[in-house]
Order: sequence, then C-alpha cells, then structure tokens
Amino acid sequence: MHVLVTGGAGYIGSHTCKALKKEGFKPVTFDNLSEGHEYAVKWGDLVKGDLLNKENLDFAFNKYQPKAVIHFAANALVSESMKNPQKYYQNNVSGTLNLLSAMNEYGVKNLIFSSSCATYGHPNYTPICEKHPQVPISPYGRSKLMIEQILLDFQKAYQMNFVSLRYFNAAGADLESEIGEHHKTETHLIPLAIDTALNIYDVLHVYGFDFDTKDGSAIRDYIHVNDLAAAHVKALNYILKIPESIFLNLGSEKGYSVLEIVKTIETLCKTKVKTNIGAKREGDPAVLFAKTNLAKKLLSWEPKHSDIKTIITTAWQWHLKKQKI
Ligand SMILES: NC(=O)c1ccc[n+]([C@@H]2O[C@H](COP(=O)([O-])OP(=O)(O)OC[C@H]3O[C@@H](n4cnc5c(N)ncnc54)[C@H](O)[C@@H]3O)[C@@H](O)[C@H]2O)c1
Repeated sequence: MHVLVTGGAGYIGSHTCKALKKEGFKPVTFDNLSEGHEYAVKWGDLVKGDLLNKENLDFAFNKYQPKAVIHFAANALVSESMKNPQKYYQNNVSGTLNLLSAMNEYGVKNLIFSSSCATYGHPNYTPICEKHPQVPISPYGRSKLMIEQILLDFQKAYQMNFVSLRYFNAAGADLESEIGEHHKTETHLIPLAIDTALNIYDVLHVYGFDFDTKDGSAIRDYIHVNDLAAAHVKALNYILKIPESIFLNLGSEKGYSVLEIVKTIETLCKTKVKTNIGAKREGDPAVLFAKTNLAKKLLSWEPKHSDIKTIITTAWQWHLKKQKI
C-alpha cells in the first residue's frame, strides 16, 4: 500500500519512511528539497515536487494512487516566521490546502498531519494536554492552528479522517545513524550544541538565565525522532481501521533545561560546549512539557528511545557521520 509522505526527505519524514517500510507500507516521498536531502530518501520513491504546484501533486496521486497521506512538508522556523509571515502562510497553509484539494479530487480520505506544541502558545499550566487553549504566538504556530481548523471543516464536509499530531521537540537520530537531523538552517538546541562541540560553530547562545527554573534556563520536552516515527505508523494503522479525527500530543512528558542538555552532552560525549549565556527571547515560556496519555491510550504507543542518554548519543553519532556527507 502506497503512502504519500510530503516532506519525506526532511528530518522526521525520513525517519518515518524507514519505519513505514519496516511495517510493510510503501512510502513515496513528495518533497521539493528546499530543506530536505535526496540522500535521506532510501526507503521508497522520491517525487521531486512542490505543494504549491498542482501538476506536481497530480503526478504523484496519479502515479502512486496512495491510500493515505502523511503530511510533514512545511517551513518550521519560528523566528523566520516572525520576519516573513507571508512565506509561512503561503507554504504551510496554501500548500496544505492544495494537498487537501488533491486528496479530495483523488478520493484519498486518510491524513496524518504534523502539528506542533507551538499551537498552544504560552502555557496556562503544565503538563500541557490537548484541551489546553490554543493561542499561538508566532505566524508559524498560527499556520499550524489554521490547518487544524481547516482539517475539522474538511472532515465535516468531505468525511476526511485525520490524526493531527502535536509534537513537542523532536530530537536524536536513527539508531543505525543512516539518517538524522540535518536542517540547512539549524535552530534546535541539541544539533547546535553538538556542532559547537565539533567546532562547526564558535559558541552556543543560551537564551535566558533568569527563568523561574532550577538553573535559570528554559525547560523543554524532547521526544526521540524514532518514537515520533513509530507514532505515525500507529496513527496510520489506527485511522485505516477507525475513521476518526483526533488531535494528539507527542512528547516524552519529561522536561530538561538547556543547561542540563549541555552538561549531558559534555559528559556523555566527553567534550566541551562553549556557551554564551544571554537574555531570554521575547515570548519564550520558562517551562513546556506534554501530557501524552491520550496518544498512549488510543495508539497503544509508548516512547522507547526518549531517555536523554539515547537522544544525545544517537544525535552525536549522527553528527560525526554527517560531517563526512
Ligand atoms: N522538528 C521539530 O521539533 C518539530 C516540532 C513540531 C512540529 N514539527 C513539524 O514537523 C514537520 C517536519 O519537521 P522537520 O523537523 O522534519 O522539518 P524538515 O524541514 O526537516 O522537513 C520538512 C520537509 O518539507 C519539505 N518541504 C517544505 N515545503 C515544501 C513544499 N512546498 N513542497 C514540498 N516539500 C516541501 C522540505 O524540503 C523538507 O524536506 C514540519 O511540518 C514541522 O512544522 C517539527
């Protein structure tokens, strides 16, 4: 069974293609390679195409006749979205609308969507459950919330089933180091810290020393990318059996501070990360972590690799390999 994976050449998409192949699905990556990499498409065909191009979508739907779509493709840099919201609404919202229209045209009813904890905005409480108010504070977060709202309308009008997965911070890499995190513009803490240890960057900027946390730095929830990939496969199996529309958090339910992550990298990888500790960024909450009991219950999913040691050591191994690519 073919599954169309938009953004399958990217970080989470490529890990999900590997997991899909292992479970007997035939993933077909649809990616414009604006951020992703051709080398990461190893577990099925690649259609080089853009969501903003209807002919590209027609080609993929006609050729492969997928039964479901897993939709990762998006721009995902919060700070860039503040400076260039047009890019985010165009690519994320219009791009998704094009995809959903193609799904309607070709009679494809099942969608797994990459949403984000960025749809919640400032937490009123932690851990954050799916019922937490959604008041995003960036165009990126708003673009994801708009898509969730569009999905609800498509479900009502066209009986489209979807699972919208709200990830917290994806981290770590494939256990066999075949693929890993390789964004052209990196903003995530763990790859930045590792690349600083490897002298690719001079210094790691730590934003905030006066948060109301045990060491003053911000606390976030890191979920191993293989656990995210496994949740997508389970969500796909779920939606193929039970036509439904649900929103689920995916996280580890544990919070680590920025300085804890840096210290863990230094200890586990026997290295030094040079830091520059400065003022917090506007709008950055002190603590964010997920409540994921709904995903655990509905998908029979449990994170298996999201302990901090596995996250850091798999990321480290991948970054050593990435230097030679
Ligand atoms: N990485 C995280 O921690 C995180 C957290 C929450 C949500 N998400 C969401 O998960 C998804 C995947 O994130 P990622 O970190 O793997 O990102 P990524 O940038 O590695 O992957 C996105 C892929 O989409 C492709 N793409 C972008 N626009 C496209 C278009 N118009 N047409 C075709 N392909 C296009 C890119 O080339 C890239 O390969 C994104 O939707 C992101 O918003 C990620």
